[in-house]
Amino acid sequence: MLILAIESSCDETAAAVCNGRMVLSNIIATQIEEHKIYGGVVPEVASRRHTEAISGVCESALKTAGITYKDIDAIAVTFAPGLIGALLVGVNFAKGLAMKLGVPLIPVHHLRSHIAANYIENETLEPPFLCLTVSGGNTILCEVKDYNTFNRIGNTCDDAAGECFDKVARTIGLDYPGGVNLDKIATVPDSKRYPLPTPKTDNEYDFSFSGLKTAAINLIHNANQKGEEIDVPVFAATIRQKVCDILLSKTFSAAENLGYKKIALAGGVSANSELRAILKEECKKRNIEFFYPSLKYCGDNAAMVGVQAFYEYQSGNTAGVNLNAVATLPIDYR
Ligand code: KG4
Repeated sequence: MLILAIESSCDETAAAVCNGRMVLSNIIATQIEEHKIYGGVVPEVASRRHTEAISGVCESALKTAGITYKDIDAIAVTFAPGLIGALLVGVNFAKGLAMKLGVPLIPVHHLRSHIAANYIENETLEPPFLCLTVSGGNTILCEVKDYNTFNRIGNTCDDAAGECFDKVARTIGLDYPGGVNLDKIATVPDSKRYPLPTPKTDNEYDFSFSGLKTAAINLIHNANQKGEEIDVPVFAATIRQKVCDILLSKTFSAAENLGYKKIALAGGVSANSELRAILKEECKKRNIEFFYPSLKYCGDNAAMVGVQAFYEYQSGNTAGVNLNAVATLPIDYR
């Protein structure tokens, strides 16, 4: 079944052709350079750039896969969650295409697709497993009970881990997207030199990053006001370690309490070198299988949308022309 998948939830316009778990093409037009000058994504600019890029990106995905629109069996699109104007561009384009071609339209939840990025290269991965999904806008811990059945057991009460990385990185003078640049320059952490708080939450699997983000930003501002210089590589490593420790402890506590022997990592922050390394090491120690996407499938892309769409379609999840974009929607929506 050849699926043309479209993704436009944030600042990447992406299209891919997939056949089950197989990816035939995966095209991404990134807007990073454009948003860099503002230090973050400007939603209105993102929508405009999606509108300009979407048709060319889809054509390029078909061309790379060596097919034409006539060969497509279904259109898949990210419909939630994300920037509403950005999502609307993809959703409307997908609806038009599905109508014109007379093929099914498959709505895909953005976080479900991030999880599905793990299926692309990990042939043996099958639910059930526990998944930590960490991106710029979301941080959730969920049980993947089946390809289409999710039980969210933990969520961030405020900011996502990616947001914490991005804003702290911006404050220490790194370019957008800060998380990536912070990861690149981090050296050895020093929590004594830069003490940062450990957030507390009511639900043991929930996360909270806004207090940590504010504490880190205040520490930098205070140092600046006193004319002290921040050791940027050490500070970057300290905040990275703190965030990773929080993610790790909640994940393993859930795995232990719920008896999971398979853990997957997903979302843009899954590209973090320290997070991948410590999860890998800790899983090995505990005899837990660990799955993570290769770097090209960590950030927003349409290949993961196409793969999840295959499973959504099998469970009868298709939409009509009344499909709308939704800015916030839990992963276990019905
Ligand atoms: O999943 P994603 O591409 O977009 C959203 O749906 O949010 O995630 C983007 C987030 C940004 O916050 C970015 O800074 C972060 O992922 N990110 C990283 C790394 N690569 C991307 N954070 C830490 N370390 C990285 N290597």
